[in-house]
Amino acid sequence: MQHKILQTHIQVYDKAEELSDSWQALLAKARQALDSSYAPYSNFYVGAALLLEDGQIVSGSNQENASFPLCLCAERVALSSYHAQFQGRKIVAIAITAKNPKFVIAEPVSPCGACRQALSEEEFRQRQPIQIILQAETGPIYVLDSIQALLPLSFNPQFL
Ligand code: THU
Repeated sequence: MQHKILQTHIQVYDKAEELSDSWQALLAKARQALDSSYAPYSNFYVGAALLLEDGQIVSGSNQENASFPLCLCAERVALSSYHAQFQGRKIVAIAITAKNPKFVIAEPVSPCGACRQALSEEEFRQRQPIQIILQAETGPIYVLDSIQALLPLSFNPQFL
């Protein structure tokens, strides 16, 4: 028997000012996207912003529904918007933030399993990793070089 040990590398920044200008701008856009979040059931507002290779930013926010399974995550709303309007340009990075009006979230909120899988598919399609930038309302900023860091042993189209 052998052991396989998987490691996750996360860059941790204390504050947004330590990030490059373009990443700061991307995080700010993700934060702006919180304004369009519709989350009356969970009170959990999520904003996501995609940075494309030409500098364009595409954002999205979570959209809930009284029929709970219909809820759409911010990341996949942003990805759908990208495919509808900007497809053809590669995605360089995604910034994700979250807020709850009832308490301050101070730890980065990472994408759910479904969004990890969706981001993994995007990386496969564009044959280029997407940097992941995470910060909640406050607290540290996590930067990961690829969604693969959050989805080890991912299921991908090569299995099919
Ligand atoms: N949510 C996202 O938008 N992205 C995630 O990756 C995790 C969860 C949303 C869905 C739902 O509207 C709320 O957060 C609570 O689960």
